[in-house]
Amino acid sequence: MASDPKIHKFDEVAKHNKTKDCWLIISGKVYDVTPFMDDHPGGDEVLLSSTGKDATNDFEDVGHSDSARDMMAKYYIGEIDASTVPAIRTQIPLQKTSYNQDKGSEFFIKLLQFLVPLLILGLAYAVRNFTKKE
Ligand code: HEM
Repeated sequence: MASDPKIHKFDEVAKHNKTKDCWLIISGKVYDVTPFMDDHPGGDEVLLSSTGKDATNDFEDVGHSDSARDMMAKYYIGEIDASTVPAIRTQIPLQKTSYNQDKGSEFFIKLLQFLVPLLILGLAYAVRNFTKKE
């Protein structure tokens, strides 16, 4: 393993996206976790959903233990050719888009937070004036 790791291309790795043939890219390394699918404490579904992309964030977000990290060596099959990995996934999961809404809507909400109380104050003032006259 120490000498000449195999360099895999992203497209080739992405093809291994089945329960019986599952490869992952984590921190620039490629893992064939096919033999681990049934034994993964997080289940095989999560491993499958981490194929076809850089799964580093998925892996790190779970907060895997040191012993989980030690296990990875068993499944290591080489490095990923970084130049073949799409910079940003073109398909952003739907739920996540809400995080990334542009600053425009943030600004609009702030503006509303400022304007709505003013509007209520103005209305109250208008109503008071209106009722006073009668
Ligand atoms: C070679 C890669 C991986 C190995 C060796 C591995 C190993 C493990 C191990 C040993 C655990 C038990 C808890 C721990 O010791 O941290 C675990 C839990 C878990 N793993 Fe992985 N894992 C891998 C990749 C992934 C990926 C890509 C995901 C995607 C999200 C994932 C999601 C989870 C989840 C959700 C749990 C359950 C956490 C819990 O319920 O406590 N794992 N994994």
